[in-house]
Amino acid sequence: MKNAQRSDLWPLKSRLLGLTCHSMYLPMYYIFYVSLFSFLSISVHARLPSKIYGVNLGSWLVLESWMLPAEWIRMGGQQCSDCSQCIATEFAFARAYPDTVDGIFNMHWSSWFNEDDVHDLMEVGINTVRIPLGYWIVEALVDRKTEFYPRGGIHQLKRGLRQLKDSGIIAILDHHALPGVQTPNQMFTGRCTSDVEFYTDYNYRRALVWTAVMTALSHLDPDFGSVVAIEAVNEPIMNATQTPGYGDFQKNFVQVVRAVELTLGIDVPWSGTKIAPTDTTNFTVALEESLPNFTPEVQSALLEAVPILVEVITELALDSMTRFSPHSSREPLYTSFMDINWQYDNPPNPSDAQIGPQIYDNHLYYSFGGVADPNEQAYLESICNLQRVQADAALGNSPLVFGEWGLSTQFNATDEFLYKWADAQKLAYTKGAGWIFWNFKVEISTLAGDLARQWSYLEGVKLGFLTRDPSKLNDTNVCDGYIQ
Ligand SMILES: *[C@@H]1O[C@H](CO)[C@@H](O)[C@H](O)[C@H]1NC(C)=O
Ligand SMILES: *[C@@H]1O[C@H](CO)[C@@H](O)[C@H](O)[C@H]1NC(C)=O
Ligand SMILES: *[C@@H]1O[C@H](CO)[C@@H](O)[C@H](O)[C@H]1NC(C)=O
Ligand SMILES: *[C@@H]1O[C@H](CO)[C@@H](O)[C@H](O)[C@H]1NC(C)=O
Repeated sequence: MKNAQRSDLWPLKSRLLGLTCHSMYLPMYYIFYVSLFSFLSISVHARLPSKIYGVNLGSWLVLESWMLPAEWIRMGGQQCSDCSQCIATEFAFARAYPDTVDGIFNMHWSSWFNEDDVHDLMEVGINTVRIPLGYWIVEALVDRKTEFYPRGGIHQLKRGLRQLKDSGIIAILDHHALPGVQTPNQMFTGRCTSDVEFYTDYNYRRALVWTAVMTALSHLDPDFGSVVAIEAVNEPIMNATQTPGYGDFQKNFVQVVRAVELTLGIDVPWSGTKIAPTDTTNFTVALEESLPNFTPEVQSALLEAVPILVEVITELALDSMTRFSPHSSREPLYTSFMDINWQYDNPPNPSDAQIGPQIYDNHLYYSFGGVADPNEQAYLESICNLQRVQADAALGNSPLVFGEWGLSTQFNATDEFLYKWADAQKLAYTKGAGWIFWNFKVEISTLAGDLARQWSYLEGVKLGFLTRDPSKLNDTNVCDGYIQ
């Protein structure tokens, strides 16, 4: 959505120049405009579009083999019904092929999401991407004695973010696969296992270090200029009695983001927390100096992040970027959480953690059951009467983004139904801050069958279920007759 972002500049531009557009001033005005644009482009990106029309970049930096079964087999992976029992995840793959895993994954990262895909997404008006990431993208966090993941993803992330930025598409960095695994037996955690260890001090701290590193890179590396938000945890266990400490983690997550930003001189509305001005222009030194201002949990995460940042900064050849000026024109990132209603049994409320801009994420799939009876009528009645935006807002979880959804169903859907199914969901989700489809694409192959028809955004547009302009509906009256 280049247009939406650019139009944000107009009022500002006329205010600063104190003149209205007149052909006589055009040449001078043009020069002002260009230099203003390059100066402002950083903060312009740190904003959400007025409505999010997005897709997930799933299976890029966290590979889920069900989405690309033929490529996975070619890479050397396996398929099985219980994903903990064969080479079905990144973890199992890296353990099986320690010598070749990095090269093989590098080829996957380059081919699954690249310039052509960015172009395709622009063509269909996508303004936002959510990028699922594993903790292992910060390589120093991996305990190589017991944990196995490919290396080198950070370079691909930097490359992809740069391409997105050049296209005016904003990005949400989504911590999708947490240290210790946040939910059992799911490919999306990078490791299928029933041994869930995320909800422990050790792994919470690793996730906070990850957060500090990603926040710093988002502000220091111009290639990360497309990043507007960081999401703390994708899909934690829904039963809140099984996620001890998650509420404290939410607060620490936000404080780590804001601590890094305060150190960078970014204006963060954190009452009572001011950090002393520093003489150093070396960011990691400044981060160490600012430690006493924060809680012990935040301090320990930042302290652990410092040497890792020095390493990542060297690896990405960003040394000059770490010289920062304490008066930054950047805007704080949005922090993002799964909404309170994702969990049950007395869940913590992520709105209690908020300092500065924050968004909430809800995921809705009908195909896994538990939402509506498996038939067209029940699906449309359910979606046309969805109350999630209101229910979340009543608990302070606003704005709400539907960060994952799709066209999949528990029954064999006709084309006629899928036109309606796409429209009705988009109608429901745009009552909130917007939507992010899962996924931007899936494999098209004999082995994948007709997976793409209901799981691929780009294929859905090609087939006509999803309108070419995402702000439009095929039939704006799709819910007539279903609203109760
Ligand atoms: C939630 O988890 C607790 C602890 O494991 C368990 O006792 C309880 O039955 C679970 N609740 C539901 C609804 O499954
Ligand atoms: C910044 O300080 C760190 C120590 O925190 C040091 O390792 C690094 O070399 C310094 N960077 C520059 C560019 O001076
Ligand atoms: C859907 O169609 C396939 C064949 O195309 C069939 O095998 C399957 O049983 C059908 N599923 C349902 C739920 O009707
Ligand atoms: C939606 O658009 C398709 C063409 O893309 C058309 O065949 C279909 O009839 C339309 N459905 C409705 C309900 O307007």
